[in-house]
Amino acid sequence: MNIPVEPFRIKTVERIRQTTREEREAYLKEAGLNVFAVPSESIFVDLLTDSGTSAMSDQQWGGLLTGDEAYAGSRSFYRFEAAIRDITGFPQVIPTHQGRVAENLLFSTICRPGITIPNNTHFDTTHANVAANGADALNLPVPEALHPETEHPFKGNMNLEALEKVLTERKGSIPLVAMTVTNNSAGGQPVSMENIKATSQICRKHGVPFFFDCARYAENCWFIHEREAGYKNKKVIDIAREMFSYADGCWMSAKKDALVNIGGFLAMKDEKLAQTLRNKLILIEGFPTYGGLAGRDLEAIAIGLYEGLDEDYLKYRTEQVRYLGEMLMAGGVPLVKPIGGHAVFIDALAFCPHIPQSEFPGVALTVALYREAGIRAVEIGSMMFAEKDPKTGKVEYPPLDLVRLAIPRRVYTNTHMAYVADAIVAVYKNRDKLRGLRLTYEAPMLRHFTARLEEV
Ligand code: F0G
Repeated sequence: MNIPVEPFRIKTVERIRQTTREEREAYLKEAGLNVFAVPSESIFVDLLTDSGTSAMSDQQWGGLLTGDEAYAGSRSFYRFEAAIRDITGFPQVIPTHQGRVAENLLFSTICRPGITIPNNTHFDTTHANVAANGADALNLPVPEALHPETEHPFKGNMNLEALEKVLTERKGSIPLVAMTVTNNSAGGQPVSMENIKATSQICRKHGVPFFFDCARYAENCWFIHEREAGYKNKKVIDIAREMFSYADGCWMSAKKDALVNIGGFLAMKDEKLAQTLRNKLILIEGFPTYGGLAGRDLEAIAIGLYEGLDEDYLKYRTEQVRYLGEMLMAGGVPLVKPIGGHAVFIDALAFCPHIPQSEFPGVALTVALYREAGIRAVEIGSMMFAEKDPKTGKVEYPPLDLVRLAIPRRVYTNTHMAYVADAIVAVYKNRDKLRGLRLTYEAPMLRHFTARLEEV
């Protein structure tokens, strides 16, 4: 038996309630078939995101009480700064209230029309923050990432040949190369240390700074420990230190691997860039020793960063996600393989081949999962990423239409995972009943959050 045993016991519980199918139907109607607009109280198992949804530990809750709420020079800031310096080695630490503010500060400073920011794959907020400043957010995944069925231990890797080519061709217009670990939009797939090192060398050769988008760096380091030759006997925290040693900076949404409900930061070597960002920070977030966070939040992050690197926790964490994936595969559900670090990704194009990308097969599946079982998932596909050419009006669809089942950290039991697997396999058996959707409202940017739809 390979059951991922939780390396914790539960001290506080939160009630969740199953609704009737009729109630869910009414919520869906009210929400314009967009599960982002469904109230969380009407959801039984919420797999919308692993962001800000972690259960904090007794140590972190204790830290909330000892947080120092001083406006300037808070003791909690210094603990936060020390933890980040210890793990990343970067001296300049700037707190933000979440990851996308870090992105906004950075990209509003270095981007303008004509600029390109390459990344293995930009997350949607990263993409939007680059694009909002007129720059080109360029994805350079390895070819394997575009084939859900292809097994590869490090499918999150950067395409090194493509990176080398773009750095040569667009010389002078690339102020930074980013790398997302794990590669969220490509299925939560890890990047190998070998690929990190090679990316770093290419960046150094071209004199371009290299930054991590490190929301899920601890899970990435766990996969390196598990899968990459030479890392079996290395501590995960030391793998993390090695990883950061190849870069010039990073930003993090602490809402993932730092096991907190809010928070983020930027960290880097470049003192001058950090000074510019701090001056902006004061304008939009707050004084540089709190950056939009309460002292107690800084305290919880300082503790959570180390808990997120705990090896018993990371083993259970990745095994629980894999456990859900394996139950789904046993039921024939088409998935992105191998199973990623924070989520199971369903291949919606293979799940419902009768629905064209223009009718949002992934969104249709999220509607069915909520309707049938009170489960909330998120589409990462044509709703999130399709782009309309402003001149020709032609719509370009992303290569994959995925539905992500993101598992909150330390929140749901393995029985919840079995419930989810059962429900999805049942929907899969009746997949020919799923119907395509059409938009009745869309916002000009990040439309997936507020779109309204109807069934075709
Ligand atoms: N980078 C990555 C790789 C992310 O996954 C996210 C958020 C962000 C940056 C932005 O951070 O939410 O703190 O502002 N991802 C969440 C998700 C929302 O559901 O995957 P944020």
